[in-house]
Amino acid sequence: MKHVYIETFGCQMNKADSEHMLGLLDEIDYKLTEDIDKANLVLFNTCTIRETANHRFYSQLGIAGNKKKKKPDLLIGVGGCVAQDKRSWLQKNFPYVDIVFGTNNIQRLPEIVKNAEKGKNICEIEEELPLELPELPVIRQTKVTAWVNVILGCNFNCTYCIVPSVRGRERSRTPEVIFNEVQTLAAEGFKEITLLGQNVTAYGYDISSNYSKEKATFGYIPEDPEHSLAKLLRHIHDIDGIERIRFLTGHPFHVTDELIDAVAELPKACEHFHIPMQSGDDTVLKRMARVYSVDKYRKMAEKIRNKMPIAAITSDFIVGFPGETQEQFLNTVKIVQEIGFDACNTAAYSPRPDTPSAVWENQISGDEKNERLRYLNSVVNEVLEKKNNELLNNYLEVLVEGKSQTNESKLTGRTRGNTVVNFDGCESMIGKLINVKITKANPWSMGGEIIKGEVSLVN
Ligand code: SAH
Ligand code: SF4
Ligand code: F3S
Repeated sequence: MKHVYIETFGCQMNKADSEHMLGLLDEIDYKLTEDIDKANLVLFNTCTIRETANHRFYSQLGIAGNKKKKKPDLLIGVGGCVAQDKRSWLQKNFPYVDIVFGTNNIQRLPEIVKNAEKGKNICEIEEELPLELPELPVIRQTKVTAWVNVILGCNFNCTYCIVPSVRGRERSRTPEVIFNEVQTLAAEGFKEITLLGQNVTAYGYDISSNYSKEKATFGYIPEDPEHSLAKLLRHIHDIDGIERIRFLTGHPFHVTDELIDAVAELPKACEHFHIPMQSGDDTVLKRMARVYSVDKYRKMAEKIRNKMPIAAITSDFIVGFPGETQEQFLNTVKIVQEIGFDACNTAAYSPRPDTPSAVWENQISGDEKNERLRYLNSVVNEVLEKKNNELLNNYLEVLVEGKSQTNESKLTGRTRGNTVVNFDGCESMIGKLINVKITKANPWSMGGEIIKGEVSLVN
């Protein structure tokens, strides 16, 4: 038996991919270790969404390289988005890396590792996903919640974003295959699933019979499509044992009435919409090629909240996009306050190789970007704290996921809106839906209490 140590950077897609890598490696008898010094193989599943993500990976790679000096037969592998993007550069600058593999060929991992064991340096990258998406083995790192990939890739071309070039074009898995996976998860005792895609709200269009490959650039929905995210939610909804269904990440263009209605009607579908807005200014949105206006987003949010007053709407924002004026930036600040998001990820614009906006001349200075980010973050924190304060003394449905990572004596779970709640409880509650009284509101999490004698299991 051998050991693999894996470090995962980036989004949920990468976390889900890592679980598949572990499943594949298990087939050739590599077991997971948490201790890098025990490892025969150190694997990095990388992210390149911003330059800071690359840097985090390079510094960890350096540490692994030093370990290899003392243990020459240690294998070092790099997968994920940096590998897809910078294969030759990686090989040239880090000669101690044995394996480089892409996001489209993780199914080849066992063979690649076997070859590397024989002393070969391997770089295998596929540009396109295979026509038939393979069903990959998996070793999940969670017990209550699970990720299910439903669509890979992205057909948009936001001018700042590297994802389409490292993840390829949209490819949906079939509803049958997804149904089977969810059924297996239910049988294994999982309670919540998150349907994953870089652009999950485009699910199904590419496998609908009237899909037009020519038209399918950004901002395309086939007429009356056979398959869609809404139809998928309905298709898997009644699988016994699964209590909650989520989906991540959406694009405002694809938030259809059909989807809003499905989430409103289906009891297990969590009323949480993570729909990144990116900027609160129409000119900036246009230059980002986001294909919607501020007003269109506002109307979408209204529609969601009219149907589901408790719905949580969360977003991502980029500050300091090339050419963004102070006034345009302040429009982002205003929209965050106006919409009252339930959570926001914020980031300073980072120029990515081979993306259109990286070579525009009107780049904003690092200091200015950081200043804007600091200001936006302070506003976001105020908005979130206010929203969470409004929930004080309410009882919210929490799915208990396990012990809190920061405080072993507490349990942790999430509300339907995806806010973390920490509270005192006993281990037997893990995996259950419980009503928790909210007693403390922070911007990014809440504290709760179960009143003795009042423990109410939701089901
Ligand atoms: N498909 C999703 C999110 C993809 S990437 C969407 O359309 O929104 C996750 C987030 O990273 C994005 O929402 C964006 O806010 C951020 N991001 C992407 N490229 C970036 C860049 N070049 N600089 C800074 N942030 C970026
Ligand atoms: Fe990137 Fe835009 Fe696709 Fe999101 S929709 S992954 S931001 S190109
Ligand atoms: Fe990063 Fe790749 Fe995800 S660039 S955000 S790991 S798709």
